[in-house]
Amino acid sequence: LADPSVSGKTLAQQVCSNCHGIDGNSVNPNFPKLAGQQKEYMIAQLKQFKSHNRFDPPGFEYMWGLSRSLTDKQIEELATYFSRQKSLADKPDDAKREGNGRDIFEHGVAAQSIPACSTCHGMEAAGNSTFPRLAGQHADYTVKQLNMFQRTGERPEGAIMKVIVHDLTPDSMENVAAYLATL
Ligand code: HEM
Ligand code: HEM
Repeated sequence: LADPSVSGKTLAQQVCSNCHGIDGNSVNPNFPKLAGQQKEYMIAQLKQFKSHNRFDPPGFEYMWGLSRSLTDKQIEELATYFSRQKSLADKPDDAKREGNGRDIFEHGVAAQSIPACSTCHGMEAAGNSTFPRLAGQHADYTVKQLNMFQRTGERPEGAIMKVIVHDLTPDSMENVAAYLATL
């Protein structure tokens, strides 16, 4: 990892794959899927881990050490590699939950002044540049991030999300996350 001559692709396949999967479709929800994730978003997150700007516990336990000696070139190649992998979605299994989640994603929650998530993350939740892809992500990981934005300041660069999910209820978080996992 400390060798700047190793390509990002090799690192992705030999190191990152242990947790995130060789094609970026991790199995364990503790490790976010990276398949099809936006390149610019991943570059920004890797730089945040490296500079200790993203300091939620799983982030610092796992990603601080791994990102420490990555060069800008390796970061760019790693992000390119994972952004080109095909994301595999979960099968739908709870129509009621997923239907409510879709409603929140596409229309927001007017009573709580929560805007439609699709405004920034896209109608298909594929993301755009530094707005992350959410489609296909593990529901548990999504819920964990939403709670983090709402309750902690452990992702300072996600300040915009703190405002948005301020009044999102735990049940709504589960629903929107369940819907996103199926996309
Ligand atoms: C999160 C990339 C290796 C564990 C992330 C994220 C990226 C990333 C971009 C943020 C994802 C997001 O915000 O959606 C990489 C790269 C790796 C690598 C490029 C190889 C150089 C690993 C390894 C492990 C690991 C080997 C496990 C030992 C984690 C965990 C998180 C994470 C637990 C979630 C942190 C949180 O919940 O905030 N990784 N990763 N990663 N990675 Fe890695
Ligand atoms: C990040 C969900 C609305 C902008 C995220 C993440 C989640 C999420 C789960 C973290 C992704 C990851 O770690 O891989 C949602 C939901 C929304 C919503 C459920 C609706 C209730 C919005 C809106 C905007 C926005 C309306 C733009 C105004 C962003 C940005 C990030 C982000 C910029 C990246 C933050 C960072 O760099 O740390 N969102 N989002 N989101 N979202 Fe949203």
